[in-house]
Amino acid sequence: MVKGLNLNERPYCILNTAMSIDGKIATIQGQIELSSEEDWKRVHRLRCEVDGILVGINTIISDDPKLRIKYFERKSGKLYRIIVDSNLRIPLKSNVLNFEIEKYPTIIITTQNAPKEKEEKILDIDPDNIKIIRCGNGPRVDLKLMARNLKSLNINKILLEGGGTLNFSMLANKLVDEIRVAIAPYLIGGKNAITFIEGEGFINENEIIKANLIKKEMCGNCLVLYYRIKY
Ligand SMILES: NC(=O)c1ccc[n+]([C@@H]2O[C@H](COP(=O)([O-])OP(=O)(O)OC[C@H]3O[C@@H](n4cnc5c(N)ncnc54)[C@H](OP(=O)(O)O)[C@@H]3O)[C@@H](O)[C@H]2O)c1
Repeated sequence: MVKGLNLNERPYCILNTAMSIDGKIATIQGQIELSSEEDWKRVHRLRCEVDGILVGINTIISDDPKLRIKYFERKSGKLYRIIVDSNLRIPLKSNVLNFEIEKYPTIIITTQNAPKEKEEKILDIDPDNIKIIRCGNGPRVDLKLMARNLKSLNINKILLEGGGTLNFSMLANKLVDEIRVAIAPYLIGGKNAITFIEGEGFINENEIIKANLIKKEMCGNCLVLYYRIKY
């Protein structure tokens, strides 16, 4: 059994996703708009309540999101964009490295394997607002070490916004506390289309993660389900 970290060692984590009725978060070709405007407002309100948004590098490469706040203003503190990228594959022109970087500083979590030259090129963009932290020897980022590092930076609450591969690893490491799933009334299909939770999957009954439904609401055309994880 994987041992979890206490909340005094890691940030509280809410996993939020928008998916189709059949559990897809993208088509076989990649990004698709699943959320209604009302649901986006719910997500942006949630972004105001956290210290950081965490996403995997494939999401950055495929969607180039800005990971900013629209519609609302944060009351205090900065919102960090946190990217998990084992080998620093991040494109230098990515929005998370260039768009409103003073307002939304970016932290890239990588491994000891990542090339030093790429690190220098990334930091050259804005050394004051971009930070690179190496967590583990790879091949992938050590997510527990990442969680401890984020906590030490006073990042106490994070919003995990996918994709499916990182969602699975975060759950497998017992680093997620809540799940909010917006189910959009679409059917996408395609066995190679990314689902909400990817990774190698759990096999034994005692590994399967259980959750309690704590709330449900309609946000435009999306049904949003709120769950608390039971580890
Ligand atoms: N509808 C939605 O709400 C939503 C939200 C987000 C994304 N998406 C979609 O999801 C798709 C991307 O999802 P994805 O599953 O392919 O990728 P992802 O979760 O965005 O990124 C996964 C990558 O992160 C890196 N990584 C580093 N350490 C890791 C660790 N310990 N565990 C897991 N990953 C680690 C790995 O790449 P390296 O080995 O190179 O580091 C891994 O392949 C896109 O098509 C995007 O449009 C949809």
